[in-house]
Amino acid sequence: MIILGIETSCDETAVAVVKDGSEVLASVVASQVSLHSKYGGVVPEIACRAHYEVLLPALFQAFEEAGITSDEIDAVAVTNGPGLIGALLIGLTGAKTLSWVLNRPIVPVNHVEAHLYAAPMENPELRYPFVGLVVSGGHTLLCHSLSETEMQILGSTIDDAAGEAFDKVSAILGLGYPGGPAIDRVASNGDPAAIRFPRSNMSDRPLDFSFSGLKTAVLYHCQGQNTKRSRAVQMSDAEVADVAASFQEAVVDVLVKKTIMAAEQTGVESVAVGGGVAANSRLREKLDEAAEERGIKAFCPSLSMCVDNAAMIAGIGYHLFKSGMASELDVDAYARLG
Ligand code: KG4
Ligand code: ZN
Repeated sequence: MIILGIETSCDETAVAVVKDGSEVLASVVASQVSLHSKYGGVVPEIACRAHYEVLLPALFQAFEEAGITSDEIDAVAVTNGPGLIGALLIGLTGAKTLSWVLNRPIVPVNHVEAHLYAAPMENPELRYPFVGLVVSGGHTLLCHSLSETEMQILGSTIDDAAGEAFDKVSAILGLGYPGGPAIDRVASNGDPAAIRFPRSNMSDRPLDFSFSGLKTAVLYHCQGQNTKRSRAVQMSDAEVADVAASFQEAVVDVLVKKTIMAAEQTGVESVAVGGGVAANSRLREKLDEAAEERGIKAFCPSLSMCVDNAAMIAGIGYHLFKSGMASELDVDAYARLG
């Protein structure tokens, strides 16, 4: 069965063609980073306009790369939330149009569940149930993943998402947008033990997360020496690298600790991560180590499957379609998860 996937929830216009839920025939990702970077973050109106301009060329490119015609697809899977509402509507409208013109079902996909599916999609040896951690720019979610289409949420962030914390700290350090890859790169030259930033363990809600205190601690640390001038001007490269490495270590420590705790509580044999922050080299390394120490297997998607893409949308779309979760053409987009 061939599923077309469309993803426009944030700043990536992505179209993919996937066979039987895991065989990627084409995956086109058009990044808008260059359009947003000078503003230091995603500008929703610019994102919408770019999705509108790029969606059709990306669609044609995906058909060409897959070597199929539009007649050969069995269903159209599309992200309908959560995300930037205007951006979602561009992809959803494109998907509805295709669904109507081709007379194929439309399958709405939850973006967070799609991130969670990236690891099992690439690793057939990852068996359900497992504990999944989704860490992206908009979400931080720990869940008990029971099957491709069923999961129980175990914990989430009460304030900033993990990726959002990376982006904000990167801005404080003058490292630009998107912040995660910049911090990851700079941190490799720093000392993760240089500054002991706080780890919010949330002892009353042990599987929930909070990153805003950490972000504020980084801000105070950086402003401490001179509140009037940008820290990027004041700090040496070595100091910036130490702050980046120490901040990253604090985030990773909390993510790994809670993921392992959830695995022990649920008794699963495997844990998996997904979302843009799952591309973080330190997180991948420490999760592997911690899991191995406890005889648990850790799975991380390949880097291109961590960040936003449409292959994961088409992949999970296949399972949703098989479970009868196709929708009518009046399906709507939604901005928030709950
Ligand atoms: O999943 P994603 O592409 O989009 C959302 O659904 O939000 O995630 C983007 C987030 C951004 O906050 C970005 O800074 C972060 O993922 N990110 C990283 C890395 N690569 C991307 N964070 C830490 N380390 C990385 N290597
Ligand atoms: Zn995402």
